[in-house]
Amino acid sequence: MSADNRRMILATFIHNSGSHPGGWRYPAEGPVDQHDFSHYARLAQKAEKGKLHVYFSGDSQGFPHIRGKDAFAATDYAGKLEPTTLLAALSVVTQNIGLVATVSTTFNEPYSIARRFASLDHISGGRIGWNVVTSTGDIEARNFGFDAIMGHDRRYERAEEFVNVVRNLWDSWEDDAIVRDASAGRYFDPAKVHQLDHDGEFFRVAGPLNVGRPPQGHPIIVQAGGSPSGRALAARTADMIFTAQNSISGAQDFYADMKARAALFGRDPGTLLVIPSVQFILAGTEEAAARKKEELLELIPDALAFQTLQLQLGADLSHCSLDDKLPEVAQTEGGQWVQEQIVRMAREEDLTIRELAKRVVVARASLAMAGTPEQVADFCQDWFLQKGADGFSITPNYLPANLDDFVDEVVPILQRRGLFRTDYEGETLRDNLGLSRPENGFVADPELGNEPAIWA
Ligand SMILES: Cc1cc2nc3c(=O)[nH]c(=O)nc-3n(C[C@H](O)[C@H](O)[C@H](O)COP(=O)(O)O)c2cc1C
Repeated sequence: MSADNRRMILATFIHNSGSHPGGWRYPAEGPVDQHDFSHYARLAQKAEKGKLHVYFSGDSQGFPHIRGKDAFAATDYAGKLEPTTLLAALSVVTQNIGLVATVSTTFNEPYSIARRFASLDHISGGRIGWNVVTSTGDIEARNFGFDAIMGHDRRYERAEEFVNVVRNLWDSWEDDAIVRDASAGRYFDPAKVHQLDHDGEFFRVAGPLNVGRPPQGHPIIVQAGGSPSGRALAARTADMIFTAQNSISGAQDFYADMKARAALFGRDPGTLLVIPSVQFILAGTEEAAARKKEELLELIPDALAFQTLQLQLGADLSHCSLDDKLPEVAQTEGGQWVQEQIVRMAREEDLTIRELAKRVVVARASLAMAGTPEQVADFCQDWFLQKGADGFSITPNYLPANLDDFVDEVVPILQRRGLFRTDYEGETLRDNLGLSRPENGFVADPELGNEPAIWA
């Protein structure tokens, strides 16, 4: 490990057939079946072979209203397995790797989500994490009885209360509440089970949960917002923040800001891990990698790139031509950090909408790089040692080969350089991330909720 004892965290962000919109058309053996569990099982096992910390499955609960025949090349939403269901299955075909799923706080209720993640944590032996998102668009809202999504900052207020309630529900059973004393006929000790009686602005939840405390105490909380309200939520509640960064200076600013914000909440900044998403195209030479990048780009129809740009920007560009420069766009109620990054990219590099769309459809606002395994390892080393990142979420462009390349060719270099571990250190995801197990809030603060539960 590095001199200051930080450990590089490696996750992999698995999108169906690969995150590159041309990626599903790339493998010589033909497209994968996105409904086939064995596809994901193989990827999780490969990531585990590479000793990666996390397999991450993102989510969105909707299907975009894609227009134009060429736009139907999109794979993102066509055959998107529900991620917590997928993780339950993955947990039985893996032993060590952490498993993280996105679940929205805007279109769910805390009791059911606390229960789902507590169950997953038990099933997986403490390897689960929750990527807390507030959702970004009307596409999802329209599936949950609304015409439009709740306002941006209001969603984050709901998310704060949501996460608080979930954490308290996870604590509603003390670690040793279940005694299973057959001779006395006592399965659990009621003095160690706590009511919540939460009555807040968004939620009323009596509790307790009907699942015992998760093995990790609290499953790992991940957050991926970049706006001031997203950063505040992460600084207070998250163990890990996923982010989209495309320059080392931007990554360093974000890193320093998140560590400072964590300290303001009285936290040890080392307990909030900053993990940018990155895409690598790998080949034996720089020229071969650049050629692969071009081949992949040619597989993306303009119409798909254009639709994706509009979705990512949260803006209607239908009045523009692909050769125009990006017009002024109003601040979105969707993802504000991503919008800001895309607008900055367009202005700084004076891109046409066509050029910008191709860039955005490949990497959103993250870094995309084509190079040799040594060059990619150099990149990881620089960002890690220069405090732009605590690690990376490797987002394969096409599957399974692009993940295989990273595990087989880049991981060994990072290991040889002493930057990445050669085996799992502990049993739970929390252990493997070097994060301590949280104390039970009801034990720490007897004033929390009506303690003990009413039947005690
Ligand atoms: C690496 C990464 C992964 C993300 N994964 C998801 C996801 O799976 N589902 C989702 O709705 N949003 C996802 N987001 C979007 C964020 O949750 C958030 O909405 C977005 O970054 C905008 O947040 P902001 O408005 O606070 O800037 C992701 C963002 C990043 C950077």
